[in-house]
Amino acid sequence: MSKTFFEFFSPVKILAGFKALENIPFELSLLNVKTPLLITDPGVESAGLLKSVVQVLKDNGIKSPEIFNDVPQDSSMSVVAKGANLYREKGCDGLIALGGGSVIDTAKGINILVSENADDLKKFSGAGVLKRPLKPLMVIPTTAGTGSETTLVAVITDPETGNKVPFVSHFLIPDVAVLDPRMTLTLPPQLTAASAMDALTHAVEAYTGLAKNAVSDAHAWSAVQLVSENLFAVPEAPDDRQLRLNLSVAATQAGIAFSNSMVGVVHTLGHSVGAVCHVPHGMAMSVLLPHGLEYNLENGGESYANALGKLLLPLAGEDTYLKTARDERPAAVIKTIRDWKNRLQKISGLPCTLKETGKVQKSDLEPIVRVSLSDASSIYNPVEIDAEDASNILNKAYENC
Ligand SMILES: [Fe+2]
Repeated sequence: MSKTFFEFFSPVKILAGFKALENIPFELSLLNVKTPLLITDPGVESAGLLKSVVQVLKDNGIKSPEIFNDVPQDSSMSVVAKGANLYREKGCDGLIALGGGSVIDTAKGINILVSENADDLKKFSGAGVLKRPLKPLMVIPTTAGTGSETTLVAVITDPETGNKVPFVSHFLIPDVAVLDPRMTLTLPPQLTAASAMDALTHAVEAYTGLAKNAVSDAHAWSAVQLVSENLFAVPEAPDDRQLRLNLSVAATQAGIAFSNSMVGVVHTLGHSVGAVCHVPHGMAMSVLLPHGLEYNLENGGESYANALGKLLLPLAGEDTYLKTARDERPAAVIKTIRDWKNRLQKISGLPCTLKETGKVQKSDLEPIVRVSLSDASSIYNPVEIDAEDASNILNKAYENC
């Protein structure tokens, strides 16, 4: 990968604040959207979040949007097809995604079908297949972690094979991301912790990966600092809107960073742990993060150690950074993350090891390794990973924090 050239692209307009929702009607008018399809899931609806958004629209003279609330935890191409049919049936002219990663990816998939006037989503899988802009897409995240509100990726399951199919295109980047703390206030402690650890992993992998560049580094750095300052403050004051908003901004900035600089071994293995054993993504990230970093540190040479070591400052703060010798900083980063995992387990019950997730058996590790070998995110990891390496990391993460 060339060190003398990089691209950075992040055209999403970010609306962040205590009353961010109230800006939606104006933004819809700017996008010329009069009949949006709102995509969400039953959990978001039962938490009362859908009602809040619809109320804001009504208060601003916008009729209730058409609603598709059939998105399951792991969305699939058949769900996307159903949503696209509803969009066409109701004559919609834009999309609003209200939810977590699965809802947002479903909205991106629906957008491909309705914009391309197509029925077969598979035709558009892979990188760079889309050739023109899609319909307007506004995203209101209800978790603070995936960063999907700013990324160029969607992952949707093929129900025939069970494979998670990636779609990668700049045209998938949403037009507007609405970060309003009212949307994450009800997020339970464990999901809050797991989502934040996903955001941290995006930032750390983007900052230390092969595709890092000065612009995405700035976002990754800020994201690490925001996670560090708010991860343990939120459980102590879960109703504090500013703290919640800070975690949302962290997730969005980490999303911007990895949408441009990609992720690495932790995601390579985490995707596979999710595919084989259905461990939720954020939980898998938290479990695997120190182990993936340790592997990279052992094998990644001086440039990797330098990049990782610098992150001790936003991660652990000035005092710890200054007290730690330069060559000890990379290991101190990993130790800090391990300490966080132990604290999060006490606070929220977030598992520390693959075994503790209750979803992974030792016999699953071999199939996880096999699946991981075809995961594209390993391309950007600073160290190559073969089956033996993947197996070693997974075995360590099975019983060790
Ligand atoms: Fe992730």
